[in-house]
Amino acid sequence: MPTDFDKRAYWHHRFSTETSFEWLLSSTEFIAILKPLLAILEPSSTRILHLGSGTSDLQNHLRQLDFLDVTNVDYEPLAVERGRQLEQQVFGDVKMKYAVADATKSLPLPNGSNAQSPHNDNKFDLVVDKSTADAVSCGGDEQVRRMAHCVRECLADHAVWVSMSYSASRFDIGELPFDVEVLAKVPTPKNNATDPDIFHWCYLLRPK
Ligand SMILES: C[S@@+](CC[C@H](N)C(=O)[O-])C[C@H]1O[C@@H](n2cnc3c(N)ncnc32)[C@H](O)[C@@H]1O
Repeated sequence: MPTDFDKRAYWHHRFSTETSFEWLLSSTEFIAILKPLLAILEPSSTRILHLGSGTSDLQNHLRQLDFLDVTNVDYEPLAVERGRQLEQQVFGDVKMKYAVADATKSLPLPNGSNAQSPHNDNKFDLVVDKSTADAVSCGGDEQVRRMAHCVRECLADHAVWVSMSYSASRFDIGELPFDVEVLAKVPTPKNNATDPDIFHWCYLLRPK
């Protein structure tokens, strides 16, 4: 990835014209990977954080499954605006939450506050990101570590973070407050049968 992918100015420029784009794989494909985790959650009481939402329509797929308490966060205000528009286009209203926040600095809690809370009852039950840790990684390992600590602060102890990445070693950086495992390894399309196998990696991060 070009190093600019960790810079807000890059995304501002990009989202000034881009209204819809999916990184790595479609939301339908990502939801299929998430399905076993979503199946054990009660939609009406589950608080989900969608990190680095960009111009993805992932939140609409979650709403279609009756998950309405979804907080969509991006550090670029234009992305947050695009997210609202995508929900409005499909459902005719906006019921999910949208917030501007830098995932390497501080993330909102489900009730919208930024205060750190020692209680699980005001934390997320699931955090998802699709290629946001990848973008953050362009700023170096320490930025990914900061992101991981911010996610940990807003994640309930019983909850997990699911991160979709192009990298086979995205979280091989040490000092993370999570145990990391591979949830799925997704083959990417080939132009020719003889092309090498290339995968996208879906990580499951459990609080230590
Ligand atoms: C590669 S795009 C992925 C967008 C979307 N998740 C998708 O799958 O299409 C990375 C997104 O992360 C956002 N982003 C990058 N660094 C961020 C940070 N430190 N805090 C919050 N969002 C960030 C960018 O604005 C962009 O929307």
